[in-house]
Amino acid sequence: MRERRGLGLVVAAGRLELLDQSRLPHTRQWRAIDTVAAMVEAIRALRVRGAPMIAVAAALLVAVRAEAGDDRDTLIEAIETLRSARPTAVNLSHAMNDLRRAMTGADWRVAVVAAADALADRDAALCEAIGNHGAALIAPGERILTHCNTGALATAGIGTAAGVIRRAHEQGKNVAVWVDETRPLLQGARLTAWEFGMLGVPYTLITDSMAAALMARGQVGRVIVGADRIAANGDVANKIGTYGLAVAAHHHGIPFAVAAPGTTLDPACASGADIEIEQRDAAEVRGVTGAAGDWCWAPADAPAANPAFDVTPAALVTHWILDKGVFDRDAVADGCLVDAVS
Ligand code: MRU
Repeated sequence: MRERRGLGLVVAAGRLELLDQSRLPHTRQWRAIDTVAAMVEAIRALRVRGAPMIAVAAALLVAVRAEAGDDRDTLIEAIETLRSARPTAVNLSHAMNDLRRAMTGADWRVAVVAAADALADRDAALCEAIGNHGAALIAPGERILTHCNTGALATAGIGTAAGVIRRAHEQGKNVAVWVDETRPLLQGARLTAWEFGMLGVPYTLITDSMAAALMARGQVGRVIVGADRIAANGDVANKIGTYGLAVAAHHHGIPFAVAAPGTTLDPACASGADIEIEQRDAAEVRGVTGAAGDWCWAPADAPAANPAFDVTPAALVTHWILDKGVFDRDAVADGCLVDAVS
């Protein structure tokens, strides 16, 4: 198993460690993850998160277990347990399919480790391609709004939507970014702000409810978000709040782009109606849970809904920025996404 050092994941000497994203940015706690149960807990608690990254982390944990000597049946059970850790992001399921295929031959132990390494390497390469294709779309001086966290913490590379913005910044395009805080778990405020700060990308943090008003004032030139699953017809499941941004961008005539690797495409879903939306604990909406301690500002028994993702119809998306290139609505309506799977 190859050594690797990412912003949120390290593999060294056959050990896997995750930077606990639920505690960032104020606490930097690395956790050794060496069992399937620990990885499932880390995925469910969003200690590791982002559609591409949960796939990579789960695959590398299977490789850790293979190198530790787990037998074939145990590993197959591990793959199926990990597959169901979170339901909406399809990358995890695709990655587990790759590992299952690798386990069919006589040399399955070597093959499954190689497959996990290849998944991580490939994700970094797909991010590079997305970043380069997407940056070409961006005009000098654009003010870009983004949602949730789609950067190096969420992938094995530079990120998807955040990777596009990073490349445009590095190309001297003088971009400025509105970072949505992304309630309820604040991935924008805690993680994207942290990453952009380290990269020197100029950003301004806003609450989610400010986005439409900024659009109305002409202060947003483009929206770029990531995706957890893209259906064959181009409908996009992404962090809750994405759909509202797309409606507001459409109303104001602002381009709305989705950046994702081909591993986020799911041709088995004809439309967004087929995508399962994860429902999370109401406590996340009633207040803050986790690293900061529990702080409940609502009545403790307030009924609260907490769908973690929403679906944006393809009709509201203007560009799909994939590793294979940038696709517009006509290309997507012609069915191009089915051939863009990585
Ligand atoms: O619940 P999260 O934090 O895993 O949600 C993440 C998102 O919605 C991202 O936009 C998506 O996974 C793409 S990450 C490159």
